[in-house]
Amino acid sequence: MSPDDLKKLAAARALELVTPGMRLGLGTGSTAKHFVDLLGARVAEGLEVVCVSTSEATEAQARALAIPMSTLDETPELDLTIDGADEVDRELRLIKGGGAALLREKIVAAASARMVVIADDTKLVERLGRFPLPIEVVPFGLEATRRAVLAAMEKAAAPGELVLRRKADGSILLTDGGHYILDAHPGVIADPEGLAAALSTIPGVVEHGLFLGLASAAILAGRDGLIVLGSLD
Ligand code: A5P
Repeated sequence: MSPDDLKKLAAARALELVTPGMRLGLGTGSTAKHFVDLLGARVAEGLEVVCVSTSEATEAQARALAIPMSTLDETPELDLTIDGADEVDRELRLIKGGGAALLREKIVAAASARMVVIADDTKLVERLGRFPLPIEVVPFGLEATRRAVLAAMEKAAAPGELVLRRKADGSILLTDGGHYILDAHPGVIADPEGLAAALSTIPGVVEHGLFLGLASAAILAGRDGLIVLGSLD
């Protein structure tokens, strides 16, 4: 099975959690994209749900599939969000934002009674931090914010390089919210809660990609089958 087949397998298991009438959060990224495709097929067969997306890309995909879409203003409480992740540890702590959608992803996850992560099992790690941690910042005061983030990383015993994310053409990447992303490379984050707290005190930081206490379960697909962390109930 290819990595893409594994992502599809995890997405298919997550689809079994969807029941008629649910208010769903739709994640972003290649794994979430499979889920949206599968959901679209069920909607075409008559399944009634209402969804909120975590990015412009997912919004466009869902609308193209005629999935009924809403917003958190119209539908501020969701039953279930299905989203991918860049890293998952055994305590269901996540790094997200590889696709630059972390802010909306976190807002949607926080508005959901349940968040279930779908991924291939290469995303499961013993300790977070090998995948660069995305930190969304406002463009104003970038250098001051960059220094404050570096100091916060030092303070939280997670020092490392901090790289402004750019697009393939060299221009600075702008998120859906019009912000920049600094990718932190600590290697290992020994204390995710400590780092999250330190980053949250910096005024120029809009949000960071540490999702702590948000995921209720993770469905991880590997060549030997599915691993479920947490509870799918
Ligand atoms: C988007 O910003 C991310 O949080 C994605 O959910 C994450 O990068 C996982 O993406 P893949 O499913 O493409 O690996």
